[in-house]
Amino acid sequence: MKLNEKIAIVTGGGAGIGRQAAIRFAKEGAKVTVADVNSQSGEETVSLIVESGGEAIFVKTDVKNSNQVKELINTTTNTFGGLHILVNNAGISNSEVRSVDLSEEEWDHVIDINLKGVFLGIKYAVPELKKSGGGAIINTASLLGLKGKKYQSAYNASKAGVVLLTQNAALEYGKYNIRVNAIAPGVIDTKIIDAWKQDERRWPFISRANALGRIGSPDEVANAIFFLASDEASFITGATLSVDGGGLTF
Ligand SMILES: NC(=O)c1ccc[n+]([C@@H]2O[C@H](COP(=O)([O-])OP(=O)(O)OC[C@H]3O[C@@H](n4cnc5c(N)ncnc54)[C@H](O)[C@@H]3O)[C@@H](O)[C@H]2O)c1
Repeated sequence: MKLNEKIAIVTGGGAGIGRQAAIRFAKEGAKVTVADVNSQSGEETVSLIVESGGEAIFVKTDVKNSNQVKELINTTTNTFGGLHILVNNAGISNSEVRSVDLSEEEWDHVIDINLKGVFLGIKYAVPELKKSGGGAIINTASLLGLKGKKYQSAYNASKAGVVLLTQNAALEYGKYNIRVNAIAPGVIDTKIIDAWKQDERRWPFISRANALGRIGSPDEVANAIFFLASDEASFITGATLSVDGGGLTF
């Protein structure tokens, strides 16, 4: 087990990529706080972990709310005695419309969750990671943080912001032995792509738009998150690891 004695938080841990990352961390020996705005699905992730012999708690958290993020960190350190790993994974997509048709409210909402949420996670976790003598932060960016796509203005901008915020934090906190990396998933089989799946005209293209010609599974992304969280990635920081079946090259 490669995360024995480690204490980890996974935001957006109630579903999809975050759920699989939380389960993987627990299998590798970590104590995990599952944070999600959705209590039911977050508690389900905790049950899945506990039923297979792992240790986890759920803390209801909206990542755009600084008081809730502070509470998430406090509850984790009070319950488990510290913090070593933070996965800033919670995220949402935007309505598929041109930017001229996207409301200002929706723009703010997407940026608040996808980008400010990552900032708040870093801001309030770093002091605890320093106390632990170092640690790892993994931010979930996106292939759409590395290349533009029509009708994705807020999502594109938020995820590109995550890539540079990752480099910024890697530079600021490397001296405390805190590594900060991002992952950039391509099309992964989770709820967030439901609208694309139902689009009979575009789905055949979207689902094969990479070198491997298929979509990815949340497990395949969780493997990359686990790698970046583990000591196997001890000299990797400031990186954005594409987990996209070659989507960036396509
Ligand atoms: N699935 C993909 O194709 C894909 C591709 C690239 C990047 N991503 C990114 O991966 C991350 C995880 O998404 P997913 O695909 O697993 O989708 P998902 O919808 O299955 O899971 C997202 C989780 O985040 C939670 N969440 C949403 N808003 C929140 C908030 N304000 N505070 C706390 N939790 C919140 C949801 O309740 C849900 O449990 C997101 O950041 C997403 O942008 C996904």
